[in-house]
Amino acid sequence: MNTLIEPRQRHNVIYRSDCLSKLSNLDSRSIDLIITSPPYADRRGNTYESISAKNYVEWFLPISKQLKRVLKPRGSFILNIKERSRNSERGTYVIELILEMRKQGWLWTEEYIWHKKNSFPGKWPNRFRDSWERCLHFTKQKKFKMYQKSVMVPMGKWADSRLKNLSDTDKSRDASRVMSGFGKNVSNWHGKDMVYPTNVLHMATQCQNVNHSAAFPVVLPEWFIKLFTKDEDVVLDPFMGSGTTAIAAIKLNRRYIGMEKNPLYQKYANKRISAFKKEMKEKPKSETGLKLPLTSS
Ligand SMILES: C[S@@+](CC[C@H](N)C(=O)[O-])C[C@H]1O[C@@H](n2cnc3c(N)ncnc32)[C@H](O)[C@@H]1O
Repeated sequence: MNTLIEPRQRHNVIYRSDCLSKLSNLDSRSIDLIITSPPYADRRGNTYESISAKNYVEWFLPISKQLKRVLKPRGSFILNIKERSRNSERGTYVIELILEMRKQGWLWTEEYIWHKKNSFPGKWPNRFRDSWERCLHFTKQKKFKMYQKSVMVPMGKWADSRLKNLSDTDKSRDASRVMSGFGKNVSNWHGKDMVYPTNVLHMATQCQNVNHSAAFPVVLPEWFIKLFTKDEDVVLDPFMGSGTTAIAAIKLNRRYIGMEKNPLYQKYANKRISAFKKEMKEKPKSETGLKLPLTSS
């Protein structure tokens, strides 16, 4: 008698598909980290279909519901997004989305800021140029996997002057105000070379030509993958674009699953991945490894 064996979920694949329909085929609680940058609302240009700010939350909620189902209980979801300014006012759809996702059962655990170090100058009558984007961190529960040591940064020069003359406050654990049990006790860092980073990530935008107008730099998913996953873990990007998340996953020996609706981008992402793998084979590890341009400031 033939026993029917369920095929195991495929890894290291980018599906040419609308993510909502493909996500429903993924196993529940099978993903360690989701990191993605969906189309932003009211995006001008004709590279890909734009969703209006008015409909954005309604459009995204069925997707985030599926993402919550496929994420492991101790997994993380990083949502890179930024509201535009229209008619002299910032949009509120991201804020509305956060509130609705909390109703869905997500915890809004943290917000990281991606500071784009190399944005061009510009002039607007009522504001300055956008130079940062949100990386919203959602989890399913308060206890989640986080490997903080993997993203430590060099202490930097500030330590020389700051740690020279320590006050009494510096030497005692400054925990009373936050009641968290984790104060800043500056003297703890005396003599240390590496410290934990802040939640502001200083990274340049993608410089190399990746045939995609909205690609993020490889170092961005790479940083979060290091922080929230281990070797062989599974990283999902439902809006894969040019394949940046997959490249970061491969570099770090994680498995990936991606979805991309546009056949041209999906094809390009696969080409980019093949070229990257070839480069990895040919070059010693040190040459393919991108350095994290982070500071502890
Ligand atoms: C902001 S871009 C992502 C760029 C990507 N992070 C990179 O580095 O190349 C969003 C991508 O989502 C794709 N997309 C839009 N709607 C989609 C959907 N419903 N399902 C899957 N992909 C979609 C677009 O074609 C676009 O490539």
